[in-house]
Amino acid sequence: MEVGLVKTNPVSVNYKTTGGILDFYVFLGPSPDDVIQQYSEVIGKTMMPPYWSLGFHLCRWGYTNTANLRLIVDDMRKKQIPYDTQWVDIDYMDSYKDWTLDPNNFNDLPNLVNDLHSYGMHFIPIVDPGISNTVGYAPYDDGLNRGIFIKTHDNSSFIVGKVWPGNTVFPDFTHPDAGNYWYTHAKAFHDQVNYDGLWIDMNEPANFVKGSLTGCTAGTNDDPPFVPPISGDMTDKTLCTSAQQHLSSHYNLHSLYGHFEAKATYETLMRIRGKRSLIISRSTFAGSGKYTGHWTGDNHSTWADLIYSISGIINFNMFGIPMVGADICGFAGTVDVELCTRWLQLGSFYPFMRNHRDRDGDGQDPASSMFTSTLPIMKKALEQRYRLLPYLYTLFYRSHIDGKPVIRPLFFQFPQDPKTYDIDRQFLWGSGLLISPVLVKGATTVTAYLPAGNWFDIETGVESMGGTHVFDAPLSKINAHIRGGVIIPTQDHDVTTTRSRVKDFTLLVALSTTGLASGELFWDNGESYGTTGGQNNNFIEFKAENARLTSTVVLYDYAVKMTLGSVVIYGVHSRPTIANFNGQYVPFTYDSNAKVITQNLRFPYNMSCSVLLQQNSIKQSLAHYNDREKKHVLYYQA
Ligand code: NOJ
Repeated sequence: MEVGLVKTNPVSVNYKTTGGILDFYVFLGPSPDDVIQQYSEVIGKTMMPPYWSLGFHLCRWGYTNTANLRLIVDDMRKKQIPYDTQWVDIDYMDSYKDWTLDPNNFNDLPNLVNDLHSYGMHFIPIVDPGISNTVGYAPYDDGLNRGIFIKTHDNSSFIVGKVWPGNTVFPDFTHPDAGNYWYTHAKAFHDQVNYDGLWIDMNEPANFVKGSLTGCTAGTNDDPPFVPPISGDMTDKTLCTSAQQHLSSHYNLHSLYGHFEAKATYETLMRIRGKRSLIISRSTFAGSGKYTGHWTGDNHSTWADLIYSISGIINFNMFGIPMVGADICGFAGTVDVELCTRWLQLGSFYPFMRNHRDRDGDGQDPASSMFTSTLPIMKKALEQRYRLLPYLYTLFYRSHIDGKPVIRPLFFQFPQDPKTYDIDRQFLWGSGLLISPVLVKGATTVTAYLPAGNWFDIETGVESMGGTHVFDAPLSKINAHIRGGVIIPTQDHDVTTTRSRVKDFTLLVALSTTGLASGELFWDNGESYGTTGGQNNNFIEFKAENARLTSTVVLYDYAVKMTLGSVVIYGVHSRPTIANFNGQYVPFTYDSNAKVITQNLRFPYNMSCSVLLQQNSIKQSLAHYNDREKKHVLYYQA
């Protein structure tokens, strides 16, 4: 099927298809956000990712052995670079066979993984659907017994293609026994290497020969009367479409291969680990966001691909797969220090943040000596991401519960403003944080459009009003602005999320021009299932109105120490004279950017408190405790 947008007046959508049944759903919105929410009702809500998966992921194809990989892990630690998850590509396997370890070079991998865990980190290996058809190799023998591989057009045998391990067969994930099959081998391998998620690659399914080792048929499934303008024909680089699966022909199921693999992998990991895991899949379909995240595939170390990555992550958020990112610094090509530094800055705002490259050339991990000059910049970007994770996590909660996209193009938030419609070089985190990256070599400024309202530079608190601006953007800075009217919960950064999760929270309050702001925080243990309903989580709402900031504990059902360390309020236009916290004066600072900071509050989040920022002593009487409503109350002068 080919679907195209035809830019006639009025614009039309053109479907060309060889047949099938077309079911049309029309989502009436009215806002773009509503459309995505309504779509999510049909395709299913997104999975709730584990908290650790929002940290930084490091990967490459071409780690030659565990000893080499350990050097990189150690270097990352020594340089105190925030980093949560180490990945391995097909190098770790024995002859590229799934669920095996190279006995010579990666024999020590289980120990390395244990070491990662003891440091509060996580580990994800790759796995491909192509199963080597070597007799004596358990995943092959078992699959044969169960009869779960995809069959040839006449069901006479299992179709054989070629992938990394050589000749391969392909599990049919629509087969009723495929789940048990996948679980059996994933579990056996997990008993050996204690992994925390799976990277499911090559699942279009990719095939190095056309159709199969013996070619395809001349029938209409393999050679239909109409083929969309793809490169090559229907069976290039994949299986014959005439191949047979349990549910239907591969012709009907081809685009769903990755989806069914993701579903089986999700259920497998749930059984093995009993807690939320991370799955990242190369192939996905509408609805795959229930099970998996996605990376945008093999890009290049070019400025053009840096730019494309933004529309990639925006699109996948519209598709209901918000856990998405591009290979940071680029997968193929030569690494460039400036580009890679800019990419890491932009990548620190991808929902899924992974640096990955191919097996050629030098490694591009931030600890690499090639980045000595920009390491402080990269660390700064990572540290900022780690501080913002409570907000990002809460956005994922909203996506999981309501189907709201985590990443939004500007027009989602400002549909009344036609100037936002074609902006694809800036994007929003939720409704509150606007990211305007540098995407041009050598640039030290960025031209950014701020929709109507007031916006605050996240670092400095400098306020700008809606309109087109040229902001300073030296290599050390990525511009990000908080929208006036939004309260963002943040937390002190650390080298892993395991450590940052127990640190003090800071509320970043960005007052609108009328002195209003609101926000929320979802908090749970970050990895159990069943925490997003009415229990096992803490839910806190923030509101600023009438010169008063309240923090309301809506639910405190996850018994953990949470400490409110400080409050930063942007847009307080006259200097307060004192700050009062629970009847006590507390130190605060006020700067020329109309920014108030109260520090060292050290207040347990599950209890009520009050803070008063006042300009005259009369207002002091407003400070009060509110135990019944479990509220923090903070006053300020706007
Ligand atoms: C293709 C994937 O897209 C890439 O990320 C990976 O490194 C290679 N396969 C090798 O597994």
